Amino acid sequence: MRSVLIWGCGGHGREVNWLCEQAGIEVVGFLDERPEMRGVVIDDVPVLGDIVDVLSLRGTVEVVCAGVGSPSLKKKFFEKTRSASFTIAEPIVHPAVTVSKRNRLGIGCVVCEGTVMTVNIDIGHHVVINRIVNIGHDCVIGDFSTIAPGVNLSGNVYIGEGAYIGTGASIKEKTVVGDWSMVGGGAFVRQDVPARTMYAGVPARFVKQWK
Ligand SMILES: CC(C)(COP(=O)(O)OP(=O)(O)OC[C@H]1O[C@@H](n2cnc3c(N)ncnc32)[C@H](O)[C@@H]1OP(=O)(O)O)[C@@H](O)C(=O)NCCC(=O)NCCS
Repeated sequence: MRSVLIWGCGGHGREVNWLCEQAGIEVVGFLDERPEMRGVVIDDVPVLGDIVDVLSLRGTVEVVCAGVGSPSLKKKFFEKTRSASFTIAEPIVHPAVTVSKRNRLGIGCVVCEGTVMTVNIDIGHHVVINRIVNIGHDCVIGDFSTIAPGVNLSGNVYIGEGAYIGTGASIKEKTVVGDWSMVGGGAFVRQDVPARTMYAGVPARFVKQWK
């Protein structure tokens, strides 16, 4: 049986815990940087502290960095996990989700209930595919990205590294969402979104940009 630690014990972390229960994976504990959280029990799972507090578990557990939705936090947790020489978790996929042999799922990915993926899809490392996401043929999703519940990615959509696609958004075919960009909930994206930019609305329009 697989045994994992999950970074983050908030709402998404608890959902990943539930996903692990459904997938028959043992959750040994949550990891959380906040000292006050250490020892708290959440949904029957103890918060064990930071990665340096659990070094004795190295070699016996896989670590899930995608227990949070924030792409930048996932990256931070991945770097801490790698520095501490822990094994990154293989993908965790809801048992009712079918993954074609023509798709690639990177390490540390989390794929939740109700998601549909067709063929020739390339999903990077530490990507969250939340509930009831629809991913068409030839999509590419970069490392650390998060796809919120109910998103529709038409065919040939390219999502860069660290992007966040808000709940219920739809992306037109052959559209690019740049690295570390954000798409607001409910948006319809019909033109490319540059890197480090937020688009929102129907049709999606520029909201703001950051460095
Ligand atoms: C897009 C989003 C990130 C913006 O959040 P923010 O940075 O706090 O920005 P603000 O709320 O200040 O909004 C900035 C502008 O964008 C508009 N806006 C924000 N979200 C929008 C949305 N989803 N659709 C259309 N317009 C939106 C606001 O009205 C505001 O416009 P204004 O400047 O003309 O008043 C946020 O509203 C959103 O949609 N988040 C997605 C959340 C999600 O998917 N959660 C899933 C959890 S599992």
